[in-house]
Amino acid sequence: MKIAVLGTGYVGLVTGAGLAEFGHSVIGADKMTEKIEKISKGEIPIYEPGLDELLRANMKRGRISFSSDLHKTIQAADVIFACVGTPQGDDGSADMSQIEEVSRLIAENLNGYKVIVEKSTVPVKTSHWIKRTISLYKKSDQEFDVASNPEFLREGSAVADFLNPDRIIIGVESDRARDMLVKIYDKVRDRIVITNIDTAELIKHASNSFLAMKISYINLMANLCEKTDADIEQVAKGMGLDPRIGGLFLKAGLGFGGSCFPKDLKALIKIGEDLGVDMNLLKETDLINSGRARLFLDKLKKALWILKEKKIAILGLSFKPETDDIREAPSIRLIRELLGEGAILRLYDPEAQNNMKELFPEDKTRITYCSTSYEAAACANALLICTEWKEFVEMDLRKVKALMANPIIVDGRNIFEPADVRKLGFEYYSLGRK
Ligand code: UGA
Repeated sequence: MKIAVLGTGYVGLVTGAGLAEFGHSVIGADKMTEKIEKISKGEIPIYEPGLDELLRANMKRGRISFSSDLHKTIQAADVIFACVGTPQGDDGSADMSQIEEVSRLIAENLNGYKVIVEKSTVPVKTSHWIKRTISLYKKSDQEFDVASNPEFLREGSAVADFLNPDRIIIGVESDRARDMLVKIYDKVRDRIVITNIDTAELIKHASNSFLAMKISYINLMANLCEKTDADIEQVAKGMGLDPRIGGLFLKAGLGFGGSCFPKDLKALIKIGEDLGVDMNLLKETDLINSGRARLFLDKLKKALWILKEKKIAILGLSFKPETDDIREAPSIRLIRELLGEGAILRLYDPEAQNNMKELFPEDKTRITYCSTSYEAAACANALLICTEWKEFVEMDLRKVKALMANPIIVDGRNIFEPADVRKLGFEYYSLGRK
C-alpha cells in the first residue's frame, strides 16, 4: 500500500514519520516548494522532541520521501491522509478551504480506487462535503471512500503519542476502507475502535472540548480557593484520586492555549449552534479561559501598583513546555497588556523566542529577549512564570533573588511551593492558593 500524507505541518509530519516507522511507504507532500526542499534535506521546520531523528532514520531507510508535486503524489497513492490546516474562521467555525482544495486535487487525480482519510480536526459532517466535492470534480468513474481517523497527539510528546496511542478511531462506511486502515495500523491493532464517520469526527471535537472544560473547571475552583482558605493543588489532588474524575488535566493556571483547544472549542460551539443545540456549557468554558490573563495581571498590579516603566521578566513564551509553538499562548495576551501599560519587558523561553520575535520584534527600550532565565530576571521588578518548562522549576532561586530589583514572583503555573519561595525572601503570588 502506498500512502500519501498531504500537508507538512505538525500533524502531517508526525503522521508521515509515524506511518513510515510502522513500515509503510510514505510520500509527504505540500505545495510549499521551499519547505519541501528543506525537509528533504533533513531540516525539520518545527521543534518536536524525537521528530527529527524519526524522520531522518526513515528517510535513510527509504520509507518516506517528500514532494511538492501534489498531482503525482495523489496518483501514486492508495491511501491519502489529509493533514492540512483547518484554522479558525472569523465566526469561530473552522475554515475548511484547504480541505476543499485538497478534495478537488484528489478528484482531478483519481486514477484508481483510493481511500481519503481525514486526519486534520474537522467538523462533524465534513466527510459528506469531501465526498460531494470529489464526485463533482472527478473526471473518471473511479471509486473512492472517505474515512475519518482523527489524530490525538499532543505537541511535545507527539511522536510517542503517535507510536503508542491510547486509541485509534477509524470512522468508515465500507468494509474495503475499513480493512485498508486496519492494515495500516496493524502494529497497534488492539487499540482500534471502528465507528461510523460522523461519530469519529465528533469524538475528536468532543475529546478536546472535554479536556478544555476540565481545565476551565479547575480554574473556576481556583477562583473559589482564592476567596477561601482552600488550596487548589490539594483540591485537584483530592478530586483526581477518584478514578471517575482522574488527576490529569486538573492543573490550574493561566489556562489553555495552543492551536487546538481554543479553536476546537469555538468550532464545536458553532457546530452545535448551527444544529440548534444549546452550547452554553462550552461557551462558559471559553469565557473562564479568556479571563485567566486578567486575573493574573491583577496579581501583578497588586504587587507593583503602577506598571509603567517597571521591568517585568516573563519566563515561558510558548503555550506549554517542550514546544516552540506560540499559537494562542497566554503569554501573548500578557505581553500586549503589559506593553499597553508601559512596562519594560525582559523575555525568555528555551525554544519559542524566534517565533515570538516575529510577533513582538526586539526593541531595546521596551522588549529585550534574553538568553537565560537569570538574564531576564536581572534588575526586574517582578518575574512572571507563564509556562512550566523544567528549567524554570529547577532554577536557582537564590541567584534569581540576588539579581532582581524586587524579589516578586507571580507564578501562572503554580510551579513552586509557596512556603519554600517565601522562606527565600520572595513575595510570591500563585493561582488558587495562598
Ligand atoms: C491537545 C490534546 O491534548 C491532544 O490530544 C490533541 O490531539 C491536540 O490538542 C490536537 O487536537 O491536535 P496540545 O494542544 O498539544 O494537545 O496540548 P495539551 O497538552 O493538551 O495542552 C493544551 C493547553 O492546556 C496548554 O496550554 C496547557 O498549558 C493547558 N493545560 C493542560 C492546563 O492549563 N492545565 C492542564 O491540566 C493541562
